[in-house]
Amino acid sequence: MKRIIIFASGSGSNAENIINYFQQRESISVVLIMTNNPHAKILNRCKRLKISALSFNRIAFKKEGIVHALLNDMNPDLIVLAGFLWKIPEHLIANFSNKIINIHPALLPKYGGKGMYGEYVHEAVKANKETETGITIHYVNEHYDEGAIIFQAKCSVYKEDSVEDIAAKIHELEMVHFPKVIESILS
Ligand code: GAR
Repeated sequence: MKRIIIFASGSGSNAENIINYFQQRESISVVLIMTNNPHAKILNRCKRLKISALSFNRIAFKKEGIVHALLNDMNPDLIVLAGFLWKIPEHLIANFSNKIINIHPALLPKYGGKGMYGEYVHEAVKANKETETGITIHYVNEHYDEGAIIFQAKCSVYKEDSVEDIAAKIHELEMVHFPKVIESILS
């Protein structure tokens, strides 16, 4: 059995989708959700889905902290960042090299970097009159949104699309592709 730990900071719709996808499969499972936000909606989802969840603070995320110890102990096959907004510290990247992936709601290298997340990305795409956008799934390195790209999927953006319309298209791409890409990495 391959084991996944998901890190999320907010709503957790991607995390829930991944959990559901792998509940139908025998060889891969989501064993834990970790969040830096004790008020994140993802925690309610975990309760409903009967999945273990832990929230942690900055101290726990430091080199000698409990997050590092827990991850070393659990030794997951893959760590998935699904809307996780803190930067992953170098000690974790070194210990889990090529085992941490992230999803970004744009076609990197466009619209990446610190402060570029969620709605801010879609607002920038709209403001710049882009005709297409999409999602990027990539390995995580020490720089925000700069690790090797594993997968991208595109969608069109029309003049009349609102920021919410763009967000909905991205959400759909994420729901369709993210679990499948995870499955292919682990197979
Ligand atoms: C997703 O759209 C994800 O791509 C984005 O946050 C959203 C989380 O939604 N991630 C980033 O912007 C990272 N830079 P969710 O909590 O409902 O899964």
